[in-house]
Amino acid sequence: MILVLVGFMGCGKSTVARGLAELSGAPLVDLDHRVCELAGAESVAEIFATRGEEEFRKLERQAIDSLASLEEAIVATGGGAPCVGDNMERLMALGTTIYLKMTPRALRDRLLRVRVVRPKIVGMGPEELLEYVTRLLAEREPYYSRARVVVDCDGIPSRVIVSRLKYLLKKRP
Ligand code: S3P
Repeated sequence: MILVLVGFMGCGKSTVARGLAELSGAPLVDLDHRVCELAGAESVAEIFATRGEEEFRKLERQAIDSLASLEEAIVATGGGAPCVGDNMERLMALGTTIYLKMTPRALRDRLLRVRVVRPKIVGMGPEELLEYVTRLLAEREPYYSRARVVVDCDGIPSRVIVSRLKYLLKKRP
């Protein structure tokens, strides 16, 4: 069983993936961590700063290709991962894709609260961030919405999302 969580930055992919992994006992795979391992870097921010986004996307693609050997996993992807080339097809071929859907305003509010350094939005104020999220989400939505399962997440705590997705978990014998 492989579940692949997709969605915009800040929608809660990592938290929901962690919850599903804990419940199922399946290993948690964070695509951004895999990219960092491939790059020998400490963080995504470091890769963006030293090699640029284009190189990051190449590494991200390699990281996606490396998932093909997995038999069981809960995968949290980076927000841009499904939206480059045929990455979404690749992710869909791996297992069940799940889109954690949120409105731009809810995403903006969450992104303002969290402290993870996200190179694409670093230093943006609330208004600029809302405009940016609205524009980029409109570009990305066609990719995300191809996911097999779409969950509306606005205002819903991650633990509730986890419990709504429980039915997708295959229990170990
Ligand atoms: C990105 C999202 C990030 C990370 C990188 C680029 C994006 O992941 O992959 O900073 O293009 O949306 P999260 O969605 O986990 O923040």
